[in-house]
Amino acid sequence: MSKREPFDKYRYYRLAVQSPEADVHFFRDRYRELNGGLEPQTLREDFCATFSLCCEWVKLGRDYRAIGVDLDTEPLAYGTKHYLSQMTVAQQARVTTHQTDVLKAAAKADIICAVNFSYFYFKTRVTMKKYLTRCLKTLPRGGILILDCFGGSKCYEANEEETEDEELGYSYFWDQDNFDPITSHARFHIHFKRKGEAKRMNVFTYDWRLWSIAEMSDLLQEVGFNKPKIYWEGTDEEGEGNGIFSPVTQGEECEAWICYIIAQK
Ligand SMILES: C[S@@+](CC[C@H](N)C(=O)[O-])C[C@H]1O[C@@H](n2cnc3c(N)ncnc32)[C@H](O)[C@@H]1O
Repeated sequence: MSKREPFDKYRYYRLAVQSPEADVHFFRDRYRELNGGLEPQTLREDFCATFSLCCEWVKLGRDYRAIGVDLDTEPLAYGTKHYLSQMTVAQQARVTTHQTDVLKAAAKADIICAVNFSYFYFKTRVTMKKYLTRCLKTLPRGGILILDCFGGSKCYEANEEETEDEELGYSYFWDQDNFDPITSHARFHIHFKRKGEAKRMNVFTYDWRLWSIAEMSDLLQEVGFNKPKIYWEGTDEEGEGNGIFSPVTQGEECEAWICYIIAQK
């Protein structure tokens, strides 16, 4: 990668934390599994930012439609310029974006996803219930809501983790600034450093509440979803997450874990 190429924060974000090509297959498989092999058609990507999942979803076939919802025009415009424009006219026609609050999202879909922990923006039970109720109302019977979640002892203290990509010549830093045990509020930053350049600080910042799986499971059932299924990430030989998620009924105590919470209407 050329040093002179201008720094593109969404490009590095995608390289470092997203895998939409694999995610859409995982989402479709979970829907089929929970619906006796029935095919989903419409995906709503809440907190979609650059709506990369929407773009990958419609590539699965001509019956696949996607709706992205985000408040911010900047990432929506980026997705239109960099992802949507690369697709066929027919694929483009099956993607819609709405610049609005997910609490007001009205678009119906077979699958709603809120990933990369974006629903952590909601800090109270009242708001979280409002969001989950909104999702429930816009799903048909059998429809599923997919949330990811993370935790582990490392999340209860300030720490910074570097992940280096030697091949592309950059490092990604996940920086937890603080954690308040009373409110479970925590602030996170993403920094990047390209080889030979200064570290770019606070490229993205998130003020979140760290919700537990148990809290989310209770809230989902309180608003009317079936008991959610939990898909836990496996580990590789070095004990790092391997990106493979399997259904579990019991978690594993560890420093850092990631899972999917999947709730059906
Ligand atoms: C962590 S980023 C998006 C991550 C993306 N879902 C992914 O998979 O990487 C969070 C996004 O949520 C959006 N957002 C925050 N609160 C929102 C709300 N209430 N309604 C809609 N979008 C919201 C922000 O504008 C931002 O683009």
